Amino acid sequence: MPSLRKSLLPLLLAGQSSARVSRSPTTAPVDLPLTLGALGFLTPISIGTPPQEIISLMDWTWINQFTLSTVCLGNPHDTASCLAPGQVFFNQSESSTFANQTSLYPSRTWNPNGFFGPAPLTVQFGHDVQHVGNLSAPTTFMLADMQFPQPGAFPFTGVFGLSPVFKSDNQSTQSTFYQFWKQGVYSSPIGSFLYCYNSTFGNTAPARALCNGNDALQTLGGYHSNFIQSGSLQWYDSVINLQVNIIDIITSPEILNYWALPVTKHSIGNESQPLNMTASGAIFDYASFGRGAPVSVNSYARLVELTGATPITLDASLAPNNGAQAFHSVPCSKVPKLPPLKYQFGAGTPEWEILPQNYVEKIVVSSTQTVCVLNVRTLGDGDWIIGNLGETFAKDKVILFDFDKLKVGIANAVRS
Ligand SMILES: *[C@@H]1O[C@H](CO)[C@@H](O)[C@H](O)[C@H]1NC(C)=O
Ligand SMILES: *[C@@H]1O[C@H](CO)[C@@H](O)[C@H](O)[C@H]1NC(C)=O
Ligand SMILES: *[C@@H]1O[C@H](CO)[C@@H](O)[C@H](O)[C@H]1NC(C)=O
Ligand SMILES: *[C@@H]1O[C@H](CO)[C@@H](O)[C@H](O)[C@H]1NC(C)=O
Ligand SMILES: *[C@@H]1O[C@H](CO)[C@@H](O)[C@H](O)[C@H]1NC(C)=O
Ligand SMILES: *[C@@H]1O[C@H](CO)[C@@H](O)[C@H](O)[C@H]1NC(C)=O
Ligand SMILES: *[C@@H]1O[C@H](CO)[C@@H](O)[C@H](O)[C@H]1NC(C)=O
Repeated sequence: MPSLRKSLLPLLLAGQSSARVSRSPTTAPVDLPLTLGALGFLTPISIGTPPQEIISLMDWTWINQFTLSTVCLGNPHDTASCLAPGQVFFNQSESSTFANQTSLYPSRTWNPNGFFGPAPLTVQFGHDVQHVGNLSAPTTFMLADMQFPQPGAFPFTGVFGLSPVFKSDNQSTQSTFYQFWKQGVYSSPIGSFLYCYNSTFGNTAPARALCNGNDALQTLGGYHSNFIQSGSLQWYDSVINLQVNIIDIITSPEILNYWALPVTKHSIGNESQPLNMTASGAIFDYASFGRGAPVSVNSYARLVELTGATPITLDASLAPNNGAQAFHSVPCSKVPKLPPLKYQFGAGTPEWEILPQNYVEKIVVSSTQTVCVLNVRTLGDGDWIIGNLGETFAKDKVILFDFDKLKVGIANAVRS
C-alpha cells in the first residue's frame, strides 16, 4: 500500500469484457521496467484509444488498476477543483473505446484506506483497453472520483494493483494482470519481481543488467529461472491474515486480498525472538509500507541492544521509512559485523535473511555528516504479530506470486 497521504505531504513540502479479443497466448513473460520513486516503484502503462500514458505506482496490495481521472466530487467536468495544477490524469472522454460501468459496478468508497488514511477514497468503474508492455486487452478498472483537493501533483497517474484474486471476486476487484491472464493473454499465471538495487556497503547485489539497466523488474506471465539460485525457490500457500485490517492497512469496508504468509520464526542472527502466537504473519507489500525490514516492537528493542545502536532524530524527509517507530544509528564501520534478520514462513522450511548491509541505510544529513540508520519498521505492540515484506526484504531475492494456485514463491537471486 502506498500511503499517499502520509508520504505525499512530506514529499511536497519536501466484468464484463464486451470486446473480448481472441489471441494465441504469448510464451515469453513481459518484463515491466521499474524506477524507484519516493513512494515506491513506477512503470509506464497506457489506457484507451488512442493510448494515454499512465505512469503507475506498482502495488502488490491493491486490487485493481486505479487511475486519476477528470471526475471530482462526482462531476467529470470540474477536475481543477480536485487535482493540482500539472497533475497528469486519464481523460476518459478522449478514449473512443472507454465504457462507463457505473450501472454494473456502482461507485465505491473506502474510508479509512491505505491511500489517504482517514480521507475517503472513492472510485467509479470503467472498461477500456489497457496496454501493458507489448500486450493489450480490455479490462475493468477504477477511475478516481476525488473527494477533496489534492495538495500537489502526484508523480504518477495510476496505481497498478497486483493483489491476489479470490474465486468469488468479480472484475471490479481483479488486477489487470489477472484479467489479461483470464483472457489468455499470458501463458502463465505467475508474476515475479527482482530488485537490482545499488549496493551501499559493498555487498554483491543482483547485476543491474538482469533488470535491463532498470532499478527493478516486475515480470508478468512467468519468471526467469536464470535470475534464481538453483534449488532455492520455495513455494508457500498464501493465507488470509485478519490482523492486516486491524493494525496494518486499515480499510473499511475491509479488503482481505493480500499475499500473506504465517511467520513461524523471526530471529536476530541465531537468536530466535518471541512471536505473538495469536496470529503472527507477514504481508508482501513493495510500496511505502514495505520499506524497512519488519521487526516487532520487542525485537527492535533487542536489535538496538545487540547492535549498541543509539537514538537519532531524523527530519521526516530523511527518514528511511514511514513507520511509527523512532530511529537508531550505528557506526558505519560496524555494519558488516551486525547480525542478519531472519524470517521463516512454515515450520521446517528455510529461514530467509536480510543482511545488515541491506537493513542499514546510509543517510547524508548534512554536508559534513553521514549516518548509518537501522531501516526497520514496527507494527502493533510487543512480540511479532504482523510485518510488511517489501523493498528491503526483496533485496537479493526473487519474489513470485502464482495467481492461479494463490501461492507465494521466494528464491535467492543470482548475484555477481
Ligand atoms: C512481446 O515481447 C516478447 C518479448 O520480446 C515477445 O516474445 C512477444 O512475441 C511479444 N508479443 C507480442 C504480442 O508482440
Ligand atoms: C477531457 O476531454 C474532453 C474531450 O476532448 C474535453 O472536452 C475536456 O475538456 C477534457 N477534460 C479535461 C479536464 O481536460
Ligand atoms: C458514469 O456515468 C454516471 C451516470 O450514469 C456518471 O455519474 C459518472 O460520472 C460517469 N463516470 C465516468 C467516469 O464517466
Ligand atoms: C463485485 O464485487 C464487489 C466487491 O466484492 C461487490 O461489492 C459487488 O456487489 C460485486 N458486483 C457484482 C455486479 O457482482
Ligand atoms: C542506482 O544507480 C544508477 C546509476 O548506476 C542510477 O541511475 C539509479 O537511479 C540508482 N537507483 C537507485 C534506486 O538509487
Ligand atoms: C549461527 O549458527 C550457525 C550454525 O549453527 C553457526 O555456523 C554460526 O556461526 C552462528 N552465528 C552466530 C552469529 O552465532
Ligand atoms: C497478541 O496480539 C493480539 C492481537 O493484536 C493482542 O490482542 C494480544 O494482546 C497480543 N498478545 C500479547 C501477549 O502481546
